[in-house]
Amino acid sequence: MTVTIVGSQLGDEGKGALVDLWGGEADVVVRYQGGDNAGHTVVEGGEEYKLSLVPSGAVRGKVGVLGNGCVVNPLTLFDEIDALRGRGLDPDVRVAKRAHVILPYHRVLDGIEEDAKADSGVKVGTTGRGIGPTYEDKVGRRGVRVGDLLDPEVLRDRLEYVVPQKRALIEEVYGLEAGEECDVDALHEEYAEYGRRLAEEGMIVGGSDFLHRRLEAGDDLMFEGAQGTLIDIDHGNYPYVTSSNPTAGGAATGSGVGPTVVGRGEVVGIVKAYLSRVGEGPLPTELDGDERDEELADYIREKGGEFGTVTGRPRRIGWLDVPMLRHAARVSGFTGIAVNHLDVLAGLDEVKVGHAYELDGEERLTVPATTERWGDCEPVLKEFEPWPEVDWGEVAAEGYDAVPEAAREYLDYVSDEVGAPVYAVGIGPGRSQTVELIDPFDA
Ligand code: IMP
Repeated sequence: MTVTIVGSQLGDEGKGALVDLWGGEADVVVRYQGGDNAGHTVVEGGEEYKLSLVPSGAVRGKVGVLGNGCVVNPLTLFDEIDALRGRGLDPDVRVAKRAHVILPYHRVLDGIEEDAKADSGVKVGTTGRGIGPTYEDKVGRRGVRVGDLLDPEVLRDRLEYVVPQKRALIEEVYGLEAGEECDVDALHEEYAEYGRRLAEEGMIVGGSDFLHRRLEAGDDLMFEGAQGTLIDIDHGNYPYVTSSNPTAGGAATGSGVGPTVVGRGEVVGIVKAYLSRVGEGPLPTELDGDERDEELADYIREKGGEFGTVTGRPRRIGWLDVPMLRHAARVSGFTGIAVNHLDVLAGLDEVKVGHAYELDGEERLTVPATTERWGDCEPVLKEFEPWPEVDWGEVAAEGYDAVPEAAREYLDYVSDEVGAPVYAVGIGPGRSQTVELIDPFDA
């Protein structure tokens, strides 16, 4: 069977902890979109691992696959693998031949375009990893795929076609000087070498074939979504989005496993008990109204460690946005949810959620399709009884019944609104600090 893990907000929902918890039962953990813009923190045996590209399951000795829907920076990939090896692990990572390669000019162009957009006030706040420019080349049919790295002649042909275009873009459109990132020979040498290393280490696979063989052999797969629903290129708040599909449909297109197979499995939406966001775009429930709000946001940010894993940027903070969750549950068809960071809200004087939006005097229960309309939404807040600070270690040991009653009411409400049961509750960063109610592999 398959279990798909999807971020239901804006990324940073703590997906890594659940992938790590349930990934123990999977044989293969597959990333189906994104690249080294992701930031997954996994705590295992008291050690903290911060991963941006290697699937989190690799920390637990699972086979990790980067599917065709991913964009792969080989430099990051090998850095992460080498760092894990340096810490005594032996990650088994496979990369689909159909995945696209992030090249240095993609990162350069990511930065250039962000600067250009900043001048017009439409900056996205990307992670600067070249994600968008790489997906652009994929769709523009001028990308370099992982399989191309294995054949030096094909690689040269691809580079000779595309690199002059990048040079012209940098120099003639943006009026800047192109550097080493547009040197075909240097790129060819470096990337052909990555191809050799990928092949030598047996990391290259036909993604769909590989996964089908594993399924046929009776293996269980976990699809590890990165980022979140509201930064999905199709279902997020465009243009403040990433360039891939973190939603569950992406698990099929980004891996080569059919939608009926993914759909027969479980799709678990990961929810942070409040909201955080790196990057630009509207955030109706943002805590930024007055000094009191800002103090509360600072408190939650510090307590929840809300600083970008990839970029270190402080995250914007808001109350849980329920219209966002209803939208996420529909787009991905959640069969269950996991709610993280419940402990961060403990001990507050007030706990609120954005139950609905008010737009043009009417109440709305989901997110408008355009960012401008979303920006016009005012939250309709609902207040909950706050729950006290407790010994979360004890709660973890005793299970769900030990979760404070007011917090359970909060969880029941969220579950009702999204129409999916709570499978797990995160009450701290470690794997043992997740209270499990339902194991999706047994659901
Ligand atoms: P990009 O993916 O680097 O192109 O960035 C596009 C948008 O997605 C920006 O708002 C980023 O901050 C956001 N983003 C990308 N990856 C993540 C993530 O893993 N967590 C949260 N936000 C992300």
